[in-house]
Amino acid sequence: MPTIVVADEMEEDVLEMLSGVGKIVYKPSNIGVALTDADALVVRSATRVTRELVENCKKLKVVARAGVGLDNIDIESCEKKGIKVFNTPGSSTEAVAELTIGLMICACRNVGKAHFGMKNGKWEKKKLTGFEIEGKTLGIIGYGRIGKAVAEKAVALGMRVIASDPTAKNDAYARIVSFQELLKESDIISLHCNLTDATKGMINKEAIEMMRNGVVILNLARGELINEDALYDGCKSGKIYAVALDVYSAEPYKGKLLELDNIIFTPHIGASTQEAQKKIGVELVHKLKQELG
Ligand code: MLT
Repeated sequence: MPTIVVADEMEEDVLEMLSGVGKIVYKPSNIGVALTDADALVVRSATRVTRELVENCKKLKVVARAGVGLDNIDIESCEKKGIKVFNTPGSSTEAVAELTIGLMICACRNVGKAHFGMKNGKWEKKKLTGFEIEGKTLGIIGYGRIGKAVAEKAVALGMRVIASDPTAKNDAYARIVSFQELLKESDIISLHCNLTDATKGMINKEAIEMMRNGVVILNLARGELINEDALYDGCKSGKIYAVALDVYSAEPYKGKLLELDNIIFTPHIGASTQEAQKKIGVELVHKLKQELG
């Protein structure tokens, strides 16, 4: 029976499904040691699969990413060692798209401030007037599976959608524009692109200056896409009306953005629905079976 090291937090259901494929070593205290004799490694976003980590693996055939982003995996080093890398790309699309829409409405309607105000005994009805998303322009950066699912839902809610993505074409939901046009034209900007050298820090001081006054920014993709100092300054100055963040440059996040009350924070729960985790489990099992024989 193959040995599968599951390095990151995983739902019970997924672990149960995986135990049908091999012997599970769950969250080992020393991953390097655990991997010496392992056939497969399963990670989410927390474990960084580096060259050093895979270098000494003798039997490792596959690194499986339970989720979408592969930015925590040194794919080149894995491939050099003949280790196959795969992800479960379609499994969390709905989960992330739904949370994006939910957080967008929360940000525009000051739900975070309202919640904490009431928890602190305040009834600040007059201070909490927000704005409607109907008729507003949503700019989606990264028009892949998740970006498209967000666009589809946003159009159904009466929004106008534009998107920037070098590989995408206009469709029934979004008009493709340049990154600069998107920054200038959007009332709300939502990030759904991969983290690469080209996209790292793309939302920086200059980009924020190009945005409309009172813009709303949503990031459920990767924390490093945004320069957090620039975001902090934009939120403080009033240039940015509100932000919703599910991802951070370092996780768990403990930084200074937490001081601000116009940001809604969630702890990287975009893919954390029962349905998405089940789909991830099914896809993982199917692909691991194929790879491990
Ligand atoms: C992903 O890339 O799939 C997401 O960030 C979800 C996750 O790993 O929890």
